[in-house]
Amino acid sequence: MTTIPGYSFGTSAVPRSPVTLAELEQLKASVLFGDDDVRHLRASREILRDHVEEILDVWYGFVGSQPHLLASFTGKADGAPIADYLGGVRRRFGQWILDTARAELDQAWLDYQHEIGRRHHRVGKNRTDGVASTDLVPFRHLFALVFPITFTLRPFLARGGHGADDVDRMHAAWVKSCLIQVTLWSHPYVKDGDF
Ligand code: HEM
Repeated sequence: MTTIPGYSFGTSAVPRSPVTLAELEQLKASVLFGDDDVRHLRASREILRDHVEEILDVWYGFVGSQPHLLASFTGKADGAPIADYLGGVRRRFGQWILDTARAELDQAWLDYQHEIGRRHHRVGKNRTDGVASTDLVPFRHLFALVFPITFTLRPFLARGGHGADDVDRMHAAWVKSCLIQVTLWSHPYVKDGDF
């Protein structure tokens, strides 16, 4: 269990996901996510664990360089970046890298996916860090970010000394996992009954 503030994965503070494990199985099937992907994600953990801060530097550099993305981390009143918010989310993001690579897609994981979705949406944004930032991460950017996040991860995956084929498979497993997760995060954004 981690002691990162606000990272409540696996705690009783996280409500049950409205998505069932059976529906998660179907989603995994839709994106062709199987046991091989679990294996490759876990192999990636051994490589990525030594590079978490460097990866976060790249991702934060990307978000910070695009004002329309950085906007979600700014004060609602003055539009200025909130350093404590960026810093707090960064620590949880680092843990998320390791948890994605841990690839235990069980009920606790499913529940925390819903919580992460809520934290991007107006029902839960800003509460974990107690900040007065914008109300909502706009839905249109959630899926778009899957590409830069996974594309920029690839060079780090290649650092483990695995062959190109294995690096491709680890990379594909990451793309699939991110697609599954962002889909689960979409739940609060989708009209009732349409998910
Ligand atoms: C593939 C796409 C994305 C991934 C993998 C991702 C990942 C994450 C993670 C792991 C967290 C921390 C969750 C926690 O509290 O434990 C987080 C929070 C956050 N993300 Fe994202 N994110 C994505 C898209 C976006 C986009 C497009 C934006 C907008 C620029 C954004 C803005 C934020 C903000 C503002 C928070 C803090 C929410 C809060 O108040 O708790 N994210 N994200």
